[in-house]
Amino acid sequence: MGARVVLAYSGGLDTSVAVRWMGEEWGCEVIALAVDVGQGGDFETIRKRALAAGAIEAEVIDARARYASDFIVPALRANALYEGRYPLVSALSRPIIVEELVAAARRHGATAVGHGCTGKGNDQVRFEVSTRALAPDLDVLAPTRDWSFNRETAMDYAAEHGIPIEQTKKSPYSIDENLWGRAIECGAIEDPWNQAPDDIWLLTRPPEGGPPAPSEVVIGFEAGVPVTLDGTAMPVHELIEKLGARVGAYGFGRIDMVENRRVGIKSREVYECPGALALILAHADLEGVCLERDVMREKSRLETRVAEMIYDGLWHSPLRRALDAFMLDTQEFVTGEVRLALDAGRCYVSGRRAPRGLYDHGLATYDASDTFRHRDAEGFVRLWGLSVETWARRQGAPPAGSEQ
Ligand code: ARG
Repeated sequence: MGARVVLAYSGGLDTSVAVRWMGEEWGCEVIALAVDVGQGGDFETIRKRALAAGAIEAEVIDARARYASDFIVPALRANALYEGRYPLVSALSRPIIVEELVAAARRHGATAVGHGCTGKGNDQVRFEVSTRALAPDLDVLAPTRDWSFNRETAMDYAAEHGIPIEQTKKSPYSIDENLWGRAIECGAIEDPWNQAPDDIWLLTRPPEGGPPAPSEVVIGFEAGVPVTLDGTAMPVHELIEKLGARVGAYGFGRIDMVENRRVGIKSREVYECPGALALILAHADLEGVCLERDVMREKSRLETRVAEMIYDGLWHSPLRRALDAFMLDTQEFVTGEVRLALDAGRCYVSGRRAPRGLYDHGLATYDASDTFRHRDAEGFVRLWGLSVETWARRQGAPPAGSEQ
């Protein structure tokens, strides 16, 4: 082969072995690219590890702010939850990683990009479909799909080739993390009946001595974008982190589900997404005040579609973009504040206000300031039910109590 390839590099065992293996088996020149989407870790160490594994170059891109503004915010606009529950942590990060891979491939004159996904998961779909959409001329290499290593033999390979690996504690889990949350697979939770062991929680672990005393937090939105936390303005990526830490301390944000992968496998997944779930909760509630009824109903049907498209690797597709244009259009007046109440294991909306919201106290109230025209109701309701009434008279069941 002998291609020059930009590999999405995490610093873990598989991608480190992949750097060397692609060189030895396929004669590739490997450029390692680590994209920081908020997964944490020491990126200078990761960069050095890639070079030690045999990469001809290693780069780190800090993509956190753009990940938040260009990927998380559109997902939040659509209240995107796959199968009603999963806020798409991993699914959202893949398309931005691919954008960075393609840009790096152009910078370095590479003819291929590579990833370390297996053949059973969704992430390979996301990497490859996005690459095809952005750069149909580039090849996609997936060494971990082609080799026959298991964890043990991959470690042996690393040892034989002097590839530095952190293998102190052998975690049985496969974990993927970024600003939007943390996804945990494998190990004991592959039996869907097994309760997730307590030690897997990181973002939703209450501090020693239990969760803090009940409190409240206020999120301010402007045109659907979260911009303030308790009145303090901050960039979205910071807001997500701060809010996540705040609500996570109460143990809020855990998801335990069996989901449908794109490749047809049902898989047991455990997630912790305190910031994402709190923001979606608040945003959707504010929409309840700000969106006209028909817009809100149609939007909720399309939200499901957006979530499925993101999950299925179709971020870079014409329909996803068109749906985003619709979502964006709905957000013009989604401006206001939502108050969340926090208590052990719970986070719930306890108030909302919006300067241009559609809640009209005069229309809603039952007290003396009522402005609703009660006399309009009688004729409206009669006509509303006229068709059903006609049906009942001519064809429907006889009224209760009457004899046949
Ligand atoms: N099931 C989730 C998804 O498809 C999470 C995948 C996480 N990947 C991992 N290596 N743990 O989006």
